[in-house]
Amino acid sequence: MKITTTINELKNIIRAEKENGLSVGFVPTMGYLHEGHLTLVSQAKQEQDLVVMSIFVNPLQFGPNEDFDSYPRDFERDEALAREVGVDILFYPSVEEMYPKEPTITMTVQKRVNVLCGKKREGHFDGVVTVVSKLFNIVEPDVAYFGLKDAQQVAVIQGLVDDLSFSVEIRPVPTVREDDGLAKSSRNVRLTEDERKEAPIIYQTLLKMQKQVQKNNMVISDEIAQLMMNEFDEGKHGTLEYIEIYSYPELESMKELKGKIIIAAAVQYKNARLIDNVILTVE
Ligand code: PAJ
Repeated sequence: MKITTTINELKNIIRAEKENGLSVGFVPTMGYLHEGHLTLVSQAKQEQDLVVMSIFVNPLQFGPNEDFDSYPRDFERDEALAREVGVDILFYPSVEEMYPKEPTITMTVQKRVNVLCGKKREGHFDGVVTVVSKLFNIVEPDVAYFGLKDAQQVAVIQGLVDDLSFSVEIRPVPTVREDDGLAKSSRNVRLTEDERKEAPIIYQTLLKMQKQVQKNNMVISDEIAQLMMNEFDEGKHGTLEYIEIYSYPELESMKELKGKIIIAAAVQYKNARLIDNVILTVE
């Protein structure tokens, strides 16, 4: 595995490989790797000749009161895991390398961000599309792999690629879960023991809601959501921030639940905000 911290060196390495006709799969991450990230790599390895992973905790996508400074980081462990799973090139730039000066251009996402995490985390997706655009330009991947755990991110990035005609295909990968259903996340380590025990309720609630939707085709989504909110409130530790249903990937409210839809939830625990979702098609 080659490791580089500079944009120029990474470009040179990839350019040389591309001259040999190799296809490039790209897995962007913020590190503190777990099985979710590693599954993206495994899928990329199955489909592409060369797999590039980036590890960069992107300050632009964290709000002033969010956890940029305390976001978990452990490069040595990440390096070992990346090597083990077969990453070919690991890109690990500093903030100065990625953002050496004040920006001359900023990006603002117009659609798919006024709901769910975008509503609460103002400017978050502007930071995501900025870093992802930059990474796409540096790596020039054939296919980029993103987890559906962050389904709104996938929808926003698909919009980015469509709008700006990036020559990359976005491959969404299903959410990887713990045995008890909790979606794997770098932030799970911040749960207390009691919170960790309770946290699978998020996915269970989403599944219940999915069942309701499938049973009562075309019910008004708000009613179901309220039902689930009440049920969740009986939980002891977390606070349900939202549980909502939208069309996917447009993320628009629906009068009738029809076609591809997402049911998504966010729960705030003491030191971790967790998100999860299910995506289904209603005939
Ligand atoms: P990060 O949170 O590190 O996630 C990197 C990738 O791993 C994302 O595509 C995310 O959806 C995926 N992932 C995380 N947990 C997963 C799980 N349990 N199952 C499947 N995939 C999972 O998302 C980001 O970083 C950043 O916003 C980034 C795209 C790198 C831009 O900075």
